[in-house]
Amino acid sequence: MATRLHSSMLLVLVTITLFIYHSEQLQSSNFQSHTLLSIQHQLHFPSVLRSWNNNIDFCNTNSKSSLTIVCYEDTITQLNIVGETRTPLLPKNFSIDNFVTTLVRLPSLKVLTLVSLGIWGPLPGKIARLSSLEIVNVSSNFLYGSIPQEFSSLLHLQTLILDDNMFAGHIPHWLDSFPALTVLSLKSNLFNGTLPNSLGRLENLRILSLSHNHFYGSVPDLSHLTNLQVLELDDNAFGPQFPRLGNKLVTLVLRNNKFRSGIPDEMSSYYQLERFDISSNAFVGPLQLALLSLPSITYLNISRNKLSGMLFENLSCSSGLEAVDLSSNLLTGNLPKSLSSNSNGRTVLYANNCLEETDQNQHALPFCHTEAIAVGILPERKKHKQASMAAIAIGIVCGTFACVALSMLIFFIIRRVNSESKLKSPATKLISDNATSGYTSKLLSDARYISQVSQPMKFGSVDLPPYRTFSLEEIEAATNNFDTSSFMGESSKGQMYRGQLRDGSLVAIRCLKMVKSHRTEDFMHQIELLSKHRHRHLVSALGHCFECYLDDSSVSRLFLVFEYVPNGTLKSWISDGHYRKSLSWNQRIAAAIGVAKGIHFLHTGIVPGVYSNNLKITDVLLDQNFVAKISSYNLPLLCNMGKVGCGNPSSGFKGPSINKSVTHEDKSDIYEFGVILMEFILGRTIKPRNVDTLKDLLQASIAADDEAKRSIIDPSIRNTCMDQSLKTMMEICVRCLVKENEENPSLEDVLWNLQFAAQVQDAWRCDSQISSEGSPISPLPSRPMTFH
Ligand SMILES: *[C@@H]1O[C@H](CO)[C@@H](O)[C@H](O)[C@H]1NC(C)=O
Ligand SMILES: *[C@@H]1O[C@H](CO)[C@@H](O)[C@H](O)[C@H]1NC(C)=O
Ligand SMILES: *[C@@H]1O[C@H](CO)[C@@H](O)[C@H](O)[C@H]1NC(C)=O
Ligand SMILES: *[C@@H]1O[C@H](CO)[C@@H](O)[C@H](O)[C@H]1NC(C)=O
Ligand SMILES: *[C@@H]1O[C@H](CO)[C@@H](O)[C@H](O)[C@H]1NC(C)=O
Repeated sequence: MATRLHSSMLLVLVTITLFIYHSEQLQSSNFQSHTLLSIQHQLHFPSVLRSWNNNIDFCNTNSKSSLTIVCYEDTITQLNIVGETRTPLLPKNFSIDNFVTTLVRLPSLKVLTLVSLGIWGPLPGKIARLSSLEIVNVSSNFLYGSIPQEFSSLLHLQTLILDDNMFAGHIPHWLDSFPALTVLSLKSNLFNGTLPNSLGRLENLRILSLSHNHFYGSVPDLSHLTNLQVLELDDNAFGPQFPRLGNKLVTLVLRNNKFRSGIPDEMSSYYQLERFDISSNAFVGPLQLALLSLPSITYLNISRNKLSGMLFENLSCSSGLEAVDLSSNLLTGNLPKSLSSNSNGRTVLYANNCLEETDQNQHALPFCHTEAIAVGILPERKKHKQASMAAIAIGIVCGTFACVALSMLIFFIIRRVNSESKLKSPATKLISDNATSGYTSKLLSDARYISQVSQPMKFGSVDLPPYRTFSLEEIEAATNNFDTSSFMGESSKGQMYRGQLRDGSLVAIRCLKMVKSHRTEDFMHQIELLSKHRHRHLVSALGHCFECYLDDSSVSRLFLVFEYVPNGTLKSWISDGHYRKSLSWNQRIAAAIGVAKGIHFLHTGIVPGVYSNNLKITDVLLDQNFVAKISSYNLPLLCNMGKVGCGNPSSGFKGPSINKSVTHEDKSDIYEFGVILMEFILGRTIKPRNVDTLKDLLQASIAADDEAKRSIIDPSIRNTCMDQSLKTMMEICVRCLVKENEENPSLEDVLWNLQFAAQVQDAWRCDSQISSEGSPISPLPSRPMTFH
């Protein structure tokens, strides 16, 4: 009896236990379903989750590349959701905090992929409650802020991918607390600062991708990362030393940074290297020819550096090479035969070196020699020899030019005799600047220099023909003999004409009449400077032409030929009312970024920098694509030339402006830039005496609520600018206008903020176009506000 009772009690007990277990399971799976449905709701029902509903058994669904759920004993361990590319921001009522709170109810998650879902906000630290996480990929969202400190507790983390968000700040130094990390990818964010040395201790790291951020400084020693296969650092400001790396690398991309060293010899032992891209830096020294024959290499790009050395026809190259780009270096010799055989669709580029090839544009040999010496990589004790070599090289170039100049002189004399009668003023004559009768070696070396700088410049990624000398005939033809229909206007800076060159391109020609007598030599330095200042955001010079008096060959007129910028001044596109359509907020930010980049180039692009540019909104022009270009910068030829000081080389244009003693940034440009920003925001031109008052107004409205902010800004952008974007612009504007030098932001800082403003605005604009309802910022009615 007792036994029976006992066993039946046992049965009951077992049943109850089973029941509890079962219902717990049921409950937990109910709970999971509930969590997933809440995720679906919070993500605003993206189409990839369309199939989710109350009745679905989540652990037993078919997985697709865009949606995967993996369970282990009915507990979700993997959740991958990939939305449509370019998914806009989720609406304003999305809360990243609530979302992560929901997510952490799936505590066994090991793999989490949330890509292109429009998720926005700062990533909350509580995501670290998912303590089993091994793989995280949250690319292509709108996450911002820094990587939360709490991440450091995710001991199992192997893969962290935050690509294509707006994360900012530094890479945390506690990185070395992830012993298992194998993939770290932070591409296309706004990270800045230097890399922590702790990176060098992540021994399991296989992939490190930091492309398109604002990192700078030296790369920490990565030579102990014996597993590292992919290192991508492109589009940052790393440098100057070549990084120390382990030799297992398969992909090494250092493109577009600030490296200035030589390439270490060890590179020739990187037997697994397939992709090697160090283009657009300033690498110097000899090119290791062994790189061309590395066994695995398929892509080699060293273009736009200052690498020197001699190539031989009999060099052997790896047969696997698919693309080789050697262009814009200082290489000499002959292209290897094994490379030039183009049979298998291989791309081989080598223009702008000093090779003995004719089908891609090459410099004359002395150019590469002098340049290679100028970058100074040879050891100290050889200095003497170098100097004499340089002298010889210059001698050769000058000799060549003397010949050219002489034959041009003869040519022009003959032509002049023929065309004498056609010239308007019998007293003036056209001569080429190379052909002055009293040419000096100084002039000729200047001329040499101009022909050098006319090559594509490292800094000015401009899409313009090389700088050159124009003939008077060309100028006359372009302007239809200075016809009144070509006349654009006149100022103290001379007369402007619109013209069309023979190839159909439009140009603006500035004509400077000389009052006192000057020789062409007197201008060479200014011309040289002008020819170097070419940049996407400067109205750049295409060339010049001297017209000289016959009797003493002094200059009568100087023509400066500029690119033509068709869309008028920036001012005409922002001041409300009477003139055309005004610029959108996005266009204004883009224009501001352009102007800032232009200033940055003026300050740092060419040594010595050009400061105190006295920038005004009327001096910024817009091209056909609304790219902003600064038209008046502080070069002697561009300011005060025509009438004032034109006759006196010692005072007139030796350049009070080019102040070599300026060692740090001139802040007046930043201040004037701040005024332009204010004009963008308020939509009107501002008199200097009102700047301070308006600055205070802006300052006050930053702290005020959104509605107040909007009430003071240009009505035409009031409903289209995103709050965060507007706030960022206002803040940086106010900071630019601070009078005390110390507190002015740096140009880098300004650019960073503008880019941030553009990104948040961009993200929002996509959103407002696609889902007009429920956008994070609803357009506000304008209501006047007063400030004290
Ligand atoms: C957000 O608002 C929309 C309507 O604008 C609504 O349909 C949605 O349920 C809301 N989402 C959340 C997570 O509250
Ligand atoms: C992150 O996930 C997306 C979508 O699956 C994928 O396309 C992307 O390659 C992943 N990122 C990395 C670095 O693997
Ligand atoms: C890096 O970015 C942060 C904003 O996220 C900024 O506060 C900081 O000043 C920047 N640091 C540098 C050195 O640019
Ligand atoms: C090499 O790099 C330069 C600059 O980064 C780029 O413009 C060029 O297209 C590259 N060459 C090839 C063959 O990919
Ligand atoms: C290749 O050519 C150079 C000079 O043309 C010569 O010095 C060198 O010995 C040659 N190398 C081989 C392997 O033939």
